[in-house]
Amino acid sequence: MIRFDNEFIYLETPNTLLVFEIKDYIYDDPSFNEEGNKLITQRYYGPKSRYKEIKPEESKMNPFGACYDYDSNNLIYSYFGNGNNSDTSLLILNSDNSFTNRFYFREAKVIKGGVDIVGPHARNIKETLDIVEVDESSAIELHHYYSLCDDNDVITVKVKIINKGDKEFFLRKIASLETPIESKSLKIYTYYGKWLEERIRHESTLNSGIFVNASFAGTSSHKHNPFINVIDLENNLYYAFNLIYSGNHKETVEVNPVGHSSIMIGINDYAFDYRLKGNDSFVSPEAIMVVSTSLDETRTNMHKFVNSHIINPSFQYKKRPILFNSWEGSTFDINEESLFEMAKLCKDIGVELFVIDDGWFKNRNDDYHALGDWTPDKNKFTNGLGEISKRIKSLGLKFGIWIEPEMISRNSEIFKNHPEYALMSKNRHPIERRHQLVIDMTNKEVRDYLFNSLSKVFEEAEVDYVKWDFNRFLIDVYSSTPIRAGEYFHNFIHGTYDLYERLTKRFPNVLFEGCSSGGGRFDLGMLYYSPQIWTSDNSVAYSRSFITSGTLEGYPQSTMGAHVSKDTNGCDRTSTLEDRFNINCIGGFGYEFDLREFDDNTLQLFKKHNEFFKKHQYLIQFGSLMIIDNPFDDNRFYSFIINNNDEAILFVSELIKGNHNKKWRCKGIDSEANYEIVFRDQNNAPHVEPIVMSGKELINQGIDIGSISLNEDVEEGYQGIYSRIAVLRKIKN
Ligand code: DGJ
Repeated sequence: MIRFDNEFIYLETPNTLLVFEIKDYIYDDPSFNEEGNKLITQRYYGPKSRYKEIKPEESKMNPFGACYDYDSNNLIYSYFGNGNNSDTSLLILNSDNSFTNRFYFREAKVIKGGVDIVGPHARNIKETLDIVEVDESSAIELHHYYSLCDDNDVITVKVKIINKGDKEFFLRKIASLETPIESKSLKIYTYYGKWLEERIRHESTLNSGIFVNASFAGTSSHKHNPFINVIDLENNLYYAFNLIYSGNHKETVEVNPVGHSSIMIGINDYAFDYRLKGNDSFVSPEAIMVVSTSLDETRTNMHKFVNSHIINPSFQYKKRPILFNSWEGSTFDINEESLFEMAKLCKDIGVELFVIDDGWFKNRNDDYHALGDWTPDKNKFTNGLGEISKRIKSLGLKFGIWIEPEMISRNSEIFKNHPEYALMSKNRHPIERRHQLVIDMTNKEVRDYLFNSLSKVFEEAEVDYVKWDFNRFLIDVYSSTPIRAGEYFHNFIHGTYDLYERLTKRFPNVLFEGCSSGGGRFDLGMLYYSPQIWTSDNSVAYSRSFITSGTLEGYPQSTMGAHVSKDTNGCDRTSTLEDRFNINCIGGFGYEFDLREFDDNTLQLFKKHNEFFKKHQYLIQFGSLMIIDNPFDDNRFYSFIINNNDEAILFVSELIKGNHNKKWRCKGIDSEANYEIVFRDQNNAPHVEPIVMSGKELINQGIDIGSISLNEDVEEGYQGIYSRIAVLRKIKN
């Protein structure tokens, strides 16, 4: 709810409050005083439970100078010329060759619902506060949009800048969100990584100076995910921030010695320089923020927000199919018959969707060729993809394929005919990654070509699912079309969004899954179009525990593609299939093997796993997840519980074996109820009879790991993890 009360504006979410105050702008030299000018400041952001009534406050003067003091006034947005003497959210090269702006508050009004924006944004917004500031001397209008949804504490924030004059200016930096934090002692969690090691939590303590988390790759990147947690250690408050954007992003946290600490979230200003001609406007991506008194609450808010306000409504809270993907088992070595053999096995073990990964298109027998030529390979599929799709569908399975639209191989028909489609610097040798170049997504002709050729394939094959990959980052940022260099990165990602928009509209029932060499583009921009994203090429139970755990801090389990596959990539700690299932049966679950290699016993084991998964599929994918043991806090344990009214499912793992005397304490369950606890039967662990425990015991004492330890024979030489799953059912009186 948004409410005005004299000079105050209150934005209320179910559990938090954000309060702004409109103040007079004052100068200590009255001859400079510009009568009637106002400023807008932030007076409170935090839990409602901590709020104490705020009295109106005069603008504070800087003790040394003539201007108001930015730092002690907590202005809602900083820009060059408002005297904060630090990095700013906004930087404009004005038409008068100055960087200086002076914005004054003009008005604030409430808009029903959200504000239209091209590209990904929060959905189902209830109301928006539109704060308008104006710099008359530069003829610039600035809108700050703060949006609320009524079921969540997350607040979304974005900025629109309008050139009201007739002279052009250049936008050098525009953050989406800025918020002060009344503390000089912060802990920051960022989720950084690389291929096979995505979103590893990193902890930084900040008592002074500036901390930056940013991407420079043209994509949100493996290296630095845009999601961050900031913990105010003085006041014990847990903030989380994210950006609904898949391009270069930047999160800056500054502990300021003379005032409050501040946070800025937005597009990375690196190589960013956007021209705005008269009447042009620019809308920043939408940033999101939440604050609470615990990490659990912050995470739960983020999960619910993503599920209800980011994911495509056609897939919101809809079970995600168990899929089989051909990549890890067969790579490029695929053909209609071998795949059909595997599809039959998939049907037997209970898989629901069959996906042909890379290698289905003409001349794609290795990664040196054919990206951009989106026509089926007749040597592998004599009658095209339509035929194999029909055969697979006749088994009762759904059918999906892999694409990588934003790329082009130099060895391709399309490159031969249109070298100008590739992103290459003029007169310089292009730099390849994975032997491929990036296609120019800023070029409408390229996007039309991709839309038409991909639509043809999707139609012919009647696809139910598409995996959209992106296997390199941007280097030679140059286009054959007349586009300014400083606009390239941003327009590239908007080109991708445009193609996504057109394809998802044209094929509304197709489930898209994002991917980028594993989880290199795991962000809210992508999740807006693809309800799930392949989390990592590393499915090894031990390392995947860390990857999942880091990802879960900002993103709900339903968004995470997680497969049981070979126990190789990136880790020498192998694990049993039972443990690999326990770790990966979360979110968009599936398999990546050559299934023909397995004996009957193993196939029966997969079948048993799938039966278990299907029984609890909705609870697993959409229940409310709480972390019990975070491996980044203690690398011996990893456990979480997922709750849904009368049922919960508990996942526990020992990542390092030892005599830990560990009891697994449950969270989020009903302390007044009794629960029946049934352990999933595993062939590497003793059968445990169901037990009954009270909610209080489960929460306070926890379940004893002793009763779920492994069979002796499996432990011999075993280097993997030790895991179990238990289902908790409330006993009705
Ligand atoms: C990288 C992805 O992460 C893999 O799953 C697979 O799709 C390959 N690309 C295919 O080239």
